[in-house]
Amino acid sequence: MGMNTVSRQRVGEKIWTIVVAAGSGSRFGSPKQFSLINERRVVDWAVETARLASDGVVVVLPADQATREGGVVGGATRSASVRSGLAAVPNDATIICVHDAARPFASEFLFDEVIDAVCAGADGAVPGLPVVDTIKFVGENNVVVSTPNRRDLVAVQTPQAFRAKTLRQAHAHNPEGTDDSTLVENNGFRVVVVNGDPLNRKITTPEDLNWARTISRGEV
Ligand code: C5P
Repeated sequence: MGMNTVSRQRVGEKIWTIVVAAGSGSRFGSPKQFSLINERRVVDWAVETARLASDGVVVVLPADQATREGGVVGGATRSASVRSGLAAVPNDATIICVHDAARPFASEFLFDEVIDAVCAGADGAVPGLPVVDTIKFVGENNVVVSTPNRRDLVAVQTPQAFRAKTLRQAHAHNPEGTDDSTLVENNGFRVVVVNGDPLNRKITTPEDLNWARTISRGEV
């Protein structure tokens, strides 16, 4: 989308991003967001792009780091950490993005895509990638319950953008979800999917970190 289109659509919008970085990295073995990729911490990659793409950024961090780094203290779950961030976003923000610190390679373009979708009228917008595996619902004793049609599925990423009042309303009664779109959908709002980016991979395992280090050296 050209600059003129973006600036015309965005007149009067105030865009803030919450970067959630308060996880303990239980699957990774340590807080993965503080590992280094090419001399910069995973979280710093994410925050740098968030700053380019928004008018303001709130970084949500573990208690022992928040004060030192000028962030806010996170909660016990991802959703609680988002709420800590929301409390620090100014009331005049009109669009709020939520981004996982664990995704260092989200592009400014991807932020623009989700933000523009909200400017164009959606309540929320999330990046999604086609699913290559067949996905099963599995019940008790590992018995398959059903198989959704793969053509109807996408794997979603962050950044996720929302109308500010919609996101605040969706979080009002302290719900839990693995992303924010879930909470917004559950309130009956309309969330649209934009094209995700395979490079915007979430750093979850040591292999993911090795991959990210290789990518950042330009070896892939
Ligand atoms: O655990 P998961 O990979 O879903 O975490 C996604 C993001 O949420 C990570 O960037 C993590 O640091 C953050 N998080 C958080 N507070 C928590 C749990 C996760 O900020 N209590």
